[in-house]
Amino acid sequence: MRCIPPCNKSDLDMSADFIEAELEELKRQGLYRRLRRVEGEQGPTLNLDGQEVLNFSSNNYLGLANHPALRAAGKEAIERYGCGSGASRLISGNMTLHEKLEAKIAALKGTEAALVFNSGYQANIGVLSALAGEGDVILSDALNHASIIDGCRLSRATVVVYPHCDLGVLEDGLKNAPARIRKLIVTETLFSMDGDEVPLAEIVNLAERYGAMVMVDEAHATGVFGPNGAGVVAKLGLGNRVPVQMGTLGKALGAFGAYVAGSRELRELLINRSRSFIFTTSLPPAVMAMAIAAIDLVYKEPQRRLALWHNCRALRDGLKKLGFSLGESQSQIQPLVIGDAQKCMDFSERLLQKGVFAQGIRPPTVPPGTSRLRITLMATHTHEHLHRALKAFEEVQAGFGG
Ligand SMILES: Cc1ncc(COP(=O)(O)O)c(C=O)c1O
Repeated sequence: MRCIPPCNKSDLDMSADFIEAELEELKRQGLYRRLRRVEGEQGPTLNLDGQEVLNFSSNNYLGLANHPALRAAGKEAIERYGCGSGASRLISGNMTLHEKLEAKIAALKGTEAALVFNSGYQANIGVLSALAGEGDVILSDALNHASIIDGCRLSRATVVVYPHCDLGVLEDGLKNAPARIRKLIVTETLFSMDGDEVPLAEIVNLAERYGAMVMVDEAHATGVFGPNGAGVVAKLGLGNRVPVQMGTLGKALGAFGAYVAGSRELRELLINRSRSFIFTTSLPPAVMAMAIAAIDLVYKEPQRRLALWHNCRALRDGLKKLGFSLGESQSQIQPLVIGDAQKCMDFSERLLQKGVFAQGIRPPTVPPGTSRLRITLMATHTHEHLHRALKAFEEVQAGFGG
């Protein structure tokens, strides 16, 4: 039997001291975070901590999070199926709606099958730890999302982190890995903090040359890129060369949850091996009904993607005209790198005072020295929203000494 010794008063003091000290240290480094409160709906404008602001900090890229069709689908599912699913998928929580949603996703992605997870975070940790283990090698892009990093750690595989999109270092990693072990390359297709697209065809070529498997995270590309919003893999016609395609339902699709699309065997293996799929209550009916309605809309309303691209170009051109130097991104995610964490937060705060919410992003979400405003566009931003935002950027920049 294992005994846990009782706490005495000095232990309690010590733990309280430790928490306070940690918080103080975060504040000292300019890395302290606090929650902001949103009142009402998620749209191109937002009531944030009681202030009406323009929202340039949402992943609701197509504006579907409050679309009437999603609302109606959610309500109808509650009436018909109730609220909670009551159990995990492998017990009594596998409802017809889960399978209907999976069939929709597989059709959109052009894969044999798909499996729904409760979130993108859970999908990434669950898939990576199911597909790789001790003795295997995972090759992971340095800018991959925290959920991929955590999945790599959980798998206990040897992890080779290659510099962002550096195919030379990736190839060295593949060459150096023993021929007979399992190798898995994992990358986002549209990087969440930089908005740039991965050179996927080249990565797939390398994977095939060295006998590695490729897993992609299409969290930010789903609904936005490719035919019918199917993602970057579909855009490049690489569907049958990328066996593991993960994506989320809570960003452009405006609902919640995530998926992994691939072969029937992949689905079966994940049902059997993926702990974040097995040991959790399944998604409730309303969420699945909303995701199904969202997928129908990405087919039916291509004009949303066109409006989004139009807004991306307009904001990018406007910021460039104001003298801001922007990176490679041509997408709905526009990083404006400030560098220093505190300076970045000050810039974001001053924009907010002018009614524009563009979240400052600091380490550990991005590498030290690359703190940035992560400006995200939505299809539902109007010309007037963009005009007001650019004016605020101009004024804050002037206050910062150009
Ligand atoms: C690239 C990437 N993958 C996975 C996730 C996690 O997805 P979810 O929010 O559904 O947990 C995110 C979320 O921000 C992400 O940006």
